[in-house]
Order: sequence, then structure tokens, then C-alpha cells
Amino acid sequence: MTRGTRMLPLLVAAAVACDEGASGEREPNTMAVAVAYAPPATYRAGHFGLGRAPSRAQLAAWDSDIGPEGLELPAGRGTARDGAAIYATQCAACHGVEGQGLHPVYPALIGRDPRGEDFAFSADATVPRTIGNYWSHATTLYDYIRRAMPLYTPGSLSADETYAVTAFLLAANRVIPDTTVLDAAALRAVQMPARDRFVPDDRSPTRH
Ligand code: HEC
Repeated sequence: MTRGTRMLPLLVAAAVACDEGASGEREPNTMAVAVAYAPPATYRAGHFGLGRAPSRAQLAAWDSDIGPEGLELPAGRGTARDGAAIYATQCAACHGVEGQGLHPVYPALIGRDPRGEDFAFSADATVPRTIGNYWSHATTLYDYIRRAMPLYTPGSLSADETYAVTAFLLAANRVIPDTTVLDAAALRAVQMPARDRFVPDDRSPTRH
């Protein structure tokens, strides 16, 4: 038994005594409980003795983001045709059957509004920003879907399913032909229509 667990009954008893109060009514707990701090057995200088180092598998599960270059993209492939079926069953309820978005919180995923082609978003906030007219990197689409969608079951799509639904959305936005077999290399090669609208922020963290 550690010193920490042996102290627990003392703390509970103090809280109960205080809660009931002399008048029998519940009173706010204002009693300060002084407890001598005993560092846990695992304490080492410079550490608090809390937690433990994550395993390699736990780290790998968290370290799953894919940068714009797409270097971390997994093996696998998918087509727009396969993706259409996934979209219909797993995405359309929130994003709309046509990918038009459902007011007010579910964003549009499909649409190349001509006003958006001119990147008029700052002048006219009603122009929807979509994958086709706003996103700068196709790799980000794979990354985002893999980590965040479907909203209530993120991480549930396999690599192939994620390639397929990514292919479907890119094809529906007229970025790639709907016959493309999308894999890591093909996805890295996709040029998004809005790519040159963005400027890389290469400032060092200390320069503003
Ligand atoms: C239960 C509702 C729900 C489902 C199902 C769902 N989404 Fe979403 N999705 C959302 C919401 C809400 C957001 C906005 C999240 C935010 O802005 O933080 C979003 C955002 C997105 C975005 C970012 C859009 C943008 O331009 O910012 C993409 C891409 C996306 N979803 C793809 C998908 C795909 C693909 C599926 C199916 C595999 C899916 N979503 C299923 C609710 C859903």
C-alpha cells in the first residue's frame, strides 16, 4: 500500500463531519484540511511521480496526423465509386445528400460556387467555403476525415474507406476525374484549385 492510499480515510471523515454541521443543516465546506504532503514512492527529482510513459502503441495511436506533404499517408486505395456508397451511408445525414451542407452547423463539402472561384470569401461571407473552392491541400482532406469523421465515430473508417470517400469528395468537387484510383502517391499529386491562394507562414515562432 502506498502512503497516498493510507491517507484517504482521514480526508473522507473530515469532509463528512464538516458537511453535516452543528445545526444538522448542510453547510458549505469551509474547513481547511491540513494534510502533510508525502511524495509518492515513485517520486524522483524533477518529476511529480504521476502517470507513466506511454507505450509505443499508445504513441502511435495518437501520432496519426498527416502533413500537407502527405509523407505519412498509409498504404491503401479507393475510388470515387466506392466512396459514394460510404458517403451516402455515413456522411450524407449531416452534410446533405448532395454535399450541400445542412444549416446551421454542418458544413458544405461539395460546391464550386463561381463566386468562390474568385476567392471572394472575405468580401462576401455567404459564399460557402468548400473543399473544391477553398482547401489548399488534398492530403489535409484525408487527414481530417481520418481523425475527425464521421463525427460520432472518428477513426472508424479503414485506410481504403478513407481513400474512397476522399476520392468521392475530390471527384464531386471536379478536382480529380471520377475514375481515379486514389492511393498515397495519387493523393500527393493532386493540385487543389485554391492552392496558390495561400502563402506558407515561414516565420520562426519568435518573430512576429
Ligand atoms: C453526425 C454528423 C456528421 C457526420 C455523420 C459526418 N460529419 Fe463531417 N462534419 C460534421 C460537423 C459538425 C463538422 C464541422 C466540424 C467543425 O467545424 O469543427 C464536419 C466537418 C467535416 C469536414 C470539414 C469541412 C470544412 O470545410 O471545414 C469534412 C471534410 C467532413 N466533415 C467530412 C465528413 C465525411 C467524409 C463524413 C462521412 C465519412 C462525415 N463528415 C460525417 C458533422 C458530421
